[in-house]
Amino acid sequence: QEAGGAMSRFPLIPVQGVPLMNHIADNWDSVRAFEPHPSDLLIATYPKAGTTWTQEIVDLLLHQGDPEVCSRGLDLLKVMPPPRVIKTHLPFQLVPEGFWKNKCKVIYVARNAKDNLVSYFHFDRMNQTQPEPGPWDSYIQKFMDGKRYWEEREKNNILYLFYEDMKENPRREVERIMRYLDLSLSDDVIGRIVELTSFKAMKENPMANYTFIPMVVFDQTISPFMRKGEVGDWTNHFTPEQSRLFDEDYGRQMKSSGIPFRANI
Ligand code: A3P
Repeated sequence: QEAGGAMSRFPLIPVQGVPLMNHIADNWDSVRAFEPHPSDLLIATYPKAGTTWTQEIVDLLLHQGDPEVCSRGLDLLKVMPPPRVIKTHLPFQLVPEGFWKNKCKVIYVARNAKDNLVSYFHFDRMNQTQPEPGPWDSYIQKFMDGKRYWEEREKNNILYLFYEDMKENPRREVERIMRYLDLSLSDDVIGRIVELTSFKAMKENPMANYTFIPMVVFDQTISPFMRKGEVGDWTNHFTPEQSRLFDEDYGRQMKSSGIPFRANI
C-alpha cells in the first residue's frame, strides 16, 4: 500500500478491466516494462490476504532472523541491488512478463474470501487513499474471482500459500518458505522467526504495524492495520443470509476452481 502522496479518496482506474490505484494506472507503461533480475522474489497477493506477514517472514529468512529495516517502493527498487523482494497485488495477467520470462521465484498468498473481504472492508474504512467502502451489505458485492495464480502455480513454479495454513501451523509454513528460497536455517533461528512474525509481535513492531504511515493516509484510530489476525472473523460480520448469498455467488464465480480454501480452522 504505497502512500504515493495521494491524500484524498481517489477513485480506482481500470486497467484491462482491473481497478487499480491511480498512481499505478498512471505509471502503467513503466510498471509493465519493469525488468526484474532472475534472483528477484515476487510476493503476490490479493490485498489483505496476508501480504505483510509473508513479507516479514521472507525478510527475516533472508536475514537469518535478524530484524532489519526494509524499504519498499518502485523508485527504491531501481537502485537496490538484486535479489530484491517485491510485493504486488496485481492479478496474474497484469504481472510484468519479465517475472515469468526470467523464472523469478514467486510466492502467492491466498486467504478464504469471507475473511479476506472483512479485512478489506476495515482497511478501506481507515485507508484514506482508497474509495470509501460504503455500507457492509453492498460492500459484499466487491468480491472478484481470482484463480489464475492457482492455475499457473505448477507451470511457473509459484509457491502457493494459504493464510489459514500459516495460522494453523506457522512453523511448518515458515519452513516451507525457507525450502522454496533454497535456505537452510537452524531450528533456533526458525523458532525465532516464528516468534517475531506472530500476530502479537507484529502488532507491537513499529516497522511492521504501519504506524510509520501518517494518520492522514492510514487512520488507525478507525481500524488498526494489525486488526485481528484470525481465521473465521467473517462469522462476526456476515448475517446467515449474507453468507448464503455470498456462497452462491462464490460458487458461480469460482466454479470448479479446486482451490482448497478453509473458512474455519
Ligand atoms: P485482519 O484485518 O483480518 O486482522 P495484508 O498484509 O495483505 O494487508 O493483510 C492484512 C491482514 O493480515 C490483516 O487481517 C492483519 O491483521 C493480518 N496479519 C498481519 N500480520 C499477521 C500475523 N503475523 N499473523 C496473522 N495475521 C496477520
